Amino acid sequence: MLYPVAPLFHLFFVTGCAAFSSSVFDSSQTTRRSTFDSTAQYINVTGPHAFSPPGPNDMRGPCPGLNSLANHNFIPHNGIVSLTDSIDASFNIYGFATDFANLAGIIGYLYAGNLATLDLTYSIGGPPPGNVLSGLLGKPPGLSFTHNQFESDSSPTRGDYYQFNHNGYDLQLSAFTELYNLQKDSPNPNYDLDVLLAHRLTRYQQSIAENEYFYYGPVEMLFSSVTHFFIPGLMSNHSAEFPDGILSSEVLASIYGISSDPSTGALSYTRGHERIPDNWYRRPIGGGYSMVNTAADLARMAVYNPQLVAVGGNTNGVNTFAPLDITAFTNGVYNSAMLLEGSNAACFALQAAQQLLPAALQGVEGLVAGLLQQLDEALAGALSELTCPQMLGVDASMLEQYPGYTMTPHAV
Ligand code: HEM
Repeated sequence: MLYPVAPLFHLFFVTGCAAFSSSVFDSSQTTRRSTFDSTAQYINVTGPHAFSPPGPNDMRGPCPGLNSLANHNFIPHNGIVSLTDSIDASFNIYGFATDFANLAGIIGYLYAGNLATLDLTYSIGGPPPGNVLSGLLGKPPGLSFTHNQFESDSSPTRGDYYQFNHNGYDLQLSAFTELYNLQKDSPNPNYDLDVLLAHRLTRYQQSIAENEYFYYGPVEMLFSSVTHFFIPGLMSNHSAEFPDGILSSEVLASIYGISSDPSTGALSYTRGHERIPDNWYRRPIGGGYSMVNTAADLARMAVYNPQLVAVGGNTNGVNTFAPLDITAFTNGVYNSAMLLEGSNAACFALQAAQQLLPAALQGVEGLVAGLLQQLDEALAGALSELTCPQMLGVDASMLEQYPGYTMTPHAV
């Protein structure tokens, strides 16, 4: 099944999806009926796509997916990527569904790119060298500096922005090691969703206890949770034996740029060396990770621990987490108990994103306004895959009780 594609990307997706139309994945179900196609799912990382580490001027940032795509020349090696290339590679190599590829690409460009030149490229790391002030949002920041717009606290392995001196993009080895150790002693390590939910809870509790400016707004809840789900969802290796995929310690470490000392087992991180391993097979063709998958994963997260969908933030130092009053924030459309049911957590976060993301870019005109329209359509497309209560607006002023929100310019 092909999802509706925003008009801007129509031509691209008609081309991009055609090769992958033999889907056996029923995206309306959360249980897969995967079959394995070794030829179609194989990602060849030899020849022009052999691993090549970044040079000193190449951009790398908070996303292991994009970093590895750049290291294998699936997107430009310098880490300055066009909107369409980032969508294309995420779709073709890692198996994003079109809804996610569209959303991630557009949000990436809107917050990380140069809105003054509108060249539709953005850096996957820090600001591109030599850029002048854009006048709209200042220097194009690159994905590394999109705090509380895209990059969020309580990520799987990246540190919290205010806790690590405005470095929310580098892997913190302690966080990776905590994840790694969850399966280290298992006879058959597999970093599946259950493992990642345990890690997600640890990271959330750490942020409350260690980051005085922890902000876990609706959009941040969605982004930081989804990036946990991406780990089993997109990094798993597939085979005839495991058509639904399995994520081993070796594959996890490789895509995260981590090596292990053969004699001591000690882990080390080489910044920017994220690598797709040899003999790696992506998700089933046509079975891209979509918003339907996210809604199901969020629902499982809510059952695993209801705290994890209770948005809010620290209000006055560490361990002062105050949940947002969902009823007041949504004018009574949702309440906190509803977020524990079905697709409601995903519905609420996406509908809040529809209100909050464009509001942070108020006053823009021309093509940016066109892109905001595309963003709105991409969010609406993702929402149309779910059955949601109707929410017309949010009381964004209620977010001002959280210092982590007010401290970040253009936070959402
Ligand atoms: C247009 C494409 C993409 C964009 C713009 C993008 C952007 C980002 C950003 C801004 C973050 C930081 C989020 C945070 O701090 O919570 C992130 C994290 C992440 N992304 Fe991507 N991404 C893209 C594609 C992918 C793909 C294809 C994968 C496949 C593996 C991926 C996997 C991840 C993971 C696992 C994280 C969490 C990193 C960690 O904290 O350990 N992303 N991405």
